[in-house]
Amino acid sequence: MTDKKPRALDTRLTHTGRGSVGGGRGVNPPLLRASTLLVERARDLYDPRIRSYAIHGSAMHDALAEAWCEVETADHCVLVGSGLLACTLPIFAFAETGAHILICDNVYGPTRRFCERTLSRYGCTFEFFDPALGGGVADLIREETRLVFLENPGSLSMEICDAPAIAEAARARGVLTAMDNTWGAGVFHKPLDFGIDLSIQAGTKYPSGSADVLIGGVFTRSDRLAARLRETVADLGLNTSPDDAFLVLRGLRSMPTRLRRHEASGLEIADWLSGLAEVSRVLHPALPDAPGHALWRRDFTGSAGLFSIVLNAPADENAACAFLDALELFGLGFSWGGFESLAIHCDPQLRRSAARETIEGPLLRFSIGLEDPADLKADLERGFAALRAANGQSAV
Ligand SMILES: Cc1ncc(COP(=O)(O)O)c(C=O)c1O
Repeated sequence: MTDKKPRALDTRLTHTGRGSVGGGRGVNPPLLRASTLLVERARDLYDPRIRSYAIHGSAMHDALAEAWCEVETADHCVLVGSGLLACTLPIFAFAETGAHILICDNVYGPTRRFCERTLSRYGCTFEFFDPALGGGVADLIREETRLVFLENPGSLSMEICDAPAIAEAARARGVLTAMDNTWGAGVFHKPLDFGIDLSIQAGTKYPSGSADVLIGGVFTRSDRLAARLRETVADLGLNTSPDDAFLVLRGLRSMPTRLRRHEASGLEIADWLSGLAEVSRVLHPALPDAPGHALWRRDFTGSAGLFSIVLNAPADENAACAFLDALELFGLGFSWGGFESLAIHCDPQLRRSAARETIEGPLLRFSIGLEDPADLKADLERGFAALRAANGQSAV
């Protein structure tokens, strides 16, 4: 009897993206480092069906794309050399002179910078909108609007936006939508199931899981959109190394398992933090009081280990720095999603154009890694002791 029940993601990720395995070969595809790919006959040199140059990819890239598509339930995965490039590629590929692009105001800084500094030189205009706008984004769509870009949740302030409503409003006007889905990682959120045209991931984060690779992926179910992205990649000469593709493929196999641990530890620590006097708010979408919690419950199946807190008065930026400098286990660093816990203070990079800033104190962001949560709490206690000393309060 054949079992028709669809297999779980963990199972599918174990068995896809392996090329032709068996018969004495390894369980992963072999790694080929190459620029030149030799062809058999002179006629093959110009045959578009035959890969003759590794800038167009390799069997390792194909294997990674196949496995990563499983995660995002996509038909196409376009690989690029960083998560930032995965964000900027669709904006670049679908914008043209005179185009208007709508961008959710909570996107992380470098996506914003690309639009403001680079793409504006090519005659495009950008408008940032409040993440709370939802379907109201319809009122901002113009004749020349080409793309609505979201980051869900915003990776600093953690608001969730109503992506299905935004997708519907955009689709009704023939406008494309793209979402940076690095937090949901395709495991906890699948944007393509919610009407988003292009999902984006920084593979640098959870897919790699080890903070030692830079890679990005753009995912779609549309042949037409994939063809345009691939053309742009080919014209700009973008590629990733087969070594990096190999490392991310290896990471993907264990990503759902790691994410469940990041989720459990993140929730335990977020919950503990929400009871502390020094903390004004915990910005974690899975906490019932957090902004966007109802949308998170509706659209996500779990939560990553990345969240933020707002410190209570009288903490200022100096006190926030004292907190961070006292930590021993948390590294101070930006690129989250790896095995080691990280912390940053966010105020120098918080920028809003559309929504008014309502954050009442310093914002700290934590990426909860794979350490024991009890050890991490003890480390954070050290930070709070330093914070109280900087605030001029005696230790409790
Ligand atoms: C939400 C988000 N998207 C994309 C990126 C970019 O990833 P990469 O570091 O691979 O360029 C980052 C990096 O911090 C990020 O936080």
